Amino acid sequence: MPFTIAVAGKGGTGKTTIAALLIELLRERGAGPILAVDADPNVNLHELLGLEVARTVGELREETLERIADLPAGLPKEQYLELGLQECLVEDEGVDLLVMGHGEGPKCYCMVNHILRKYIDVLRGNYKYVVIDNEAGMEHLSRRTTQDVDALIVVARADPISIRSARRISELAAALKLRIKGRYLLVNDLAGELPPALEAELAQTGLPLLGVVPHDEEVLRLALAGRPLSNLSAGSPAKRGLARSLEALTREERSTPKEVEQRWR
Ligand SMILES: Nc1ncnc2c1ncn2[C@@H]1O[C@H](COP(=O)(O)OP(=O)(O)O)[C@@H](O)[C@H]1O
Ligand SMILES: [Mg+2]
Repeated sequence: MPFTIAVAGKGGTGKTTIAALLIELLRERGAGPILAVDADPNVNLHELLGLEVARTVGELREETLERIADLPAGLPKEQYLELGLQECLVEDEGVDLLVMGHGEGPKCYCMVNHILRKYIDVLRGNYKYVVIDNEAGMEHLSRRTTQDVDALIVVARADPISIRSARRISELAAALKLRIKGRYLLVNDLAGELPPALEAELAQTGLPLLGVVPHDEEVLRLALAGRPLSNLSAGSPAKRGLARSLEALTREERSTPKEVEQRWR
């Protein structure tokens, strides 16, 4: 199975930026194939990756329910969804993108979700890495659209409110009883040094600090111009900072859950 990285955190902390940069770093290393999953209903990972969205899984789900009664004879729901999922996949060099799209309306989605989960799981098997950009509430994780997670990266800015929010998200993930091998904190968009006054807050999250990603004007400029992060220069401080965190994660990839726990204790 692939190594699955889920990026979570409060809105505006830089989840999508971190997810896109991780994908760029993995892609540059030829570590793919990578499956990028945009699990935030406020869809924007594709923009940072410079990709177009085809059809979202949410749209597929709604269409399937609308058409269920008049699907052509001989085309079972399963096959319709499997084919539909292929159409949702945007393919690019070394990375494919799956956009989950909007959440669910008031209908009964159990059957459709059950089949979708099965095919998303089959799809995952084709990749070496899965990188998921989650929304703050982690709805997809909680509904287990995404199954096992190897590394849950909770992104926070270097302020107490953001770090406390990271702690709550981590506790939520623990309460959901998901199969998560390692949970980490990543401080993003840091100007200067980590303020010593934050140390107690950081410790209270109970999360090991995976790394610190510095503030990077070029990241912000590209976002404001709506341009993908592949345009970042090689010396980008954010990318270099995140590369160190990725090294640490790659070590985890080869470790058992027990070794991971001992390393960070
Ligand atoms: N390390 C960084 N340096 C500079 N700007 C950043 C950095 N990380 C994120 N940003 C900016 O912060 C804003 C929010 O980031 P985004 O990734 O969209 O957050 P989220 O997905 O958590 O809502 C964007 O304008 C983004 O360009
Ligand atoms: Mg986002």
